[in-house]
Amino acid sequence: MPSRIDLLIENAAELLTLRGGSLGPFVGRRMGELGVIHKGSLAIHEGRIVAIGTGRRLRKKFESERGIDATGKVVMPGFIDPHTHIVFAGYREEEFEMRIKGVPYMELLRRGGGILKTVKETRRATESHLLKNTMKTLDIMLKHGTTTAEAKSGYGLKIEDEIKCLRVLRKADDEHQVDVTPTFLGAHAVPREFEGCVGEYVDTVVEEMLPKVKELNLAKFCDVFCEKGVFNIDQSRRILLAGSEHGLTPKIHADEMTPLGGAELAAEVRAISADHLVFASEKGIKELAMASVCAVLLPCASFAQMLGKYADARGLIKRNVPVALGTDYNPSCQAVSQQLSIALACHEMRMTPSECVAASTINAAHAIGLGQEIGSLEIGKKADIAILGVPSHRFLGYRFGVNLVEKVVKNGKLVVDNSADS
Ligand code: NIG
Ligand code: FE
Repeated sequence: MPSRIDLLIENAAELLTLRGGSLGPFVGRRMGELGVIHKGSLAIHEGRIVAIGTGRRLRKKFESERGIDATGKVVMPGFIDPHTHIVFAGYREEEFEMRIKGVPYMELLRRGGGILKTVKETRRATESHLLKNTMKTLDIMLKHGTTTAEAKSGYGLKIEDEIKCLRVLRKADDEHQVDVTPTFLGAHAVPREFEGCVGEYVDTVVEEMLPKVKELNLAKFCDVFCEKGVFNIDQSRRILLAGSEHGLTPKIHADEMTPLGGAELAAEVRAISADHLVFASEKGIKELAMASVCAVLLPCASFAQMLGKYADARGLIKRNVPVALGTDYNPSCQAVSQQLSIALACHEMRMTPSECVAASTINAAHAIGLGQEIGSLEIGKKADIAILGVPSHRFLGYRFGVNLVEKVVKNGKLVVDNSADS
């Protein structure tokens, strides 16, 4: 007697399993090995993957409520975006024009614009306004195949406003199909009222904000913008270690615009990931490899900042650092789709489409501590799946500027059908 299941996805041109991914992130040459099954099929029940097979053979074993014919398509894990800043009020399109005309990103921040402009508007915004914006952003992400996103606070920079933003993230996680993993980024910039007294602001983050975030259990990670003119290495270390003491695993914006030693610090404090790394040193890269810290690369940020420089993905992969990709969605980098991260990673960092798939699924899952649950299509894992309307994953990065995602299955349910729109 065939057993009853909720959903059968059948006969994919390519089923990208990323098998073995629960054991750890893919590194080195392994990043290009996706465990592809041609004519692949998946059986799904109660939100989980229960069987994997080929052709229509699973039909003999299972009787399904619903079916998706994936003939000629790619079936892969939903994208995981391991680095976003989705809670904020107000956009910065006028600064975009200033950047085009040559004003550097960090100069805008020095003038009280950039992050500080968004802080002003976010502090004024209500929780429900912020939630509405965040939900809208998550809608677009989901349509582009993202089924889980990490998201940071960091535009409150005052205890009540940081808590407000983290609450929004918790609500968004509860109410939206996309799963949201929250990160506390109280050290995203030095707020106006602490100008010239960075040390005192660090005291506030460590002594007031972190204990409150912990008490309310509002974040899983603690991040810091470790950058020249923002938080230096010693201040960043203090914040990350204090975070660890409160049970928040460190993450770090490292060596984004200057070679400050953020990669080395990430290894020293055993961060789960070091993000950006555009200016990471050779020594820093070696130390990341030794400490098994994930490198979260954010090519959309380099692109949006018109930096003219991208992280050394090839060097990181050669040294066996697990490489993940994220969008860095924020008011200065309006990238919502992991497909854009992939296009830029291929063209500007010479990553192959296969490496990009591993980087935006299983390695991204490990970069946010969820590698056992999501990021690969294996029996027992969550059925979070993207179906691409193309016959090969090599179209990722190759065909860009359009959405290749045709359908999205989240927790075993069809939640997006872009083919129905056309
Ligand atoms: O990851 N670098 C710091 N934070 C963001 C930018 C945030 C903003 O410009 O609002 C980043 O690039
Ligand atoms: Fe960021």
